Amino acid sequence: MKIVICADYDELSLNAAGIVAGSISRKPDLVLGLVAGDTPAGLYRNLVARHREEKLSFAKVTVFLMNEFLGLGRDHPGSLFFSLRENLFDRVDLVPGNIRALDGLAPEIEKHCLDFEDQMKKAGGVDLQVLGIGRDGHIGFNEPGSSLSSHTRRKALNETTIEDRKKAFANPDEVPRHALTAGIGTILQASEILLMASGRHKAEAVAEMIEGPISSRVTASILQVHPKVTVLIDEPAAGCLENVAYYRYLQEQSRRYDRSG
Ligand code: GLP
Repeated sequence: MKIVICADYDELSLNAAGIVAGSISRKPDLVLGLVAGDTPAGLYRNLVARHREEKLSFAKVTVFLMNEFLGLGRDHPGSLFFSLRENLFDRVDLVPGNIRALDGLAPEIEKHCLDFEDQMKKAGGVDLQVLGIGRDGHIGFNEPGSSLSSHTRRKALNETTIEDRKKAFANPDEVPRHALTAGIGTILQASEILLMASGRHKAEAVAEMIEGPISSRVTASILQVHPKVTVLIDEPAAGCLENVAYYRYLQEQSRRYDRSG
């Protein structure tokens, strides 16, 4: 894992946008896995700015939206698709036919999940997967206890997740108790992963992900086995890391190397 500790959320979002934009510049037909949530909002703002100011083009990019609340349509303001449409899809030149998203209203859930995996394979697999992390250490909606080789499926949500999502709903009692999510096995197939975490409330989950044992209790810990993961965190989110001095040292070394290289 490459751990990058940023001064604050703005720096983290800028760095994340640099990584995504760099991948698109190298491979204009990038297959990009995305999630919703508060954390990637700054990344999406920066990508929109780069599209407007630097002509960063998404015209050949394919996007996979890796989770959705069960029972919510794409026009429901609480749906994850709605949030991505508002924050990114409608603000850049993504081709609507290149946006693949799980549908919370799909009539045959199992078939829909299989189709989603199939579409990913047909697209050649995800090149870069963007992730956040839940307070309980989940990635996607892979709550504690999820199989570490799971694929796209329906998942019951943990109480902390339901609590954290209430702010996105006009009526907090409306937060669905189930979701569709790409599995851990699905996520691990991505060639590269970028995980972001911001804030003190994520510090325990971040420490368990990076320094804890690999366990389905903290599903993000499985990222320790992936060969190409960048973890972007701000200072508060780094607050529980035991080996933080060493990570800062590595970060400084890599900055120097980048400058001299
Ligand atoms: C949600 C989503 C995740 C997201 C995480 C953190 O439940 N399923 O994809 O990364 O929780 O959300 P936030 O970034 O709002 O803290």
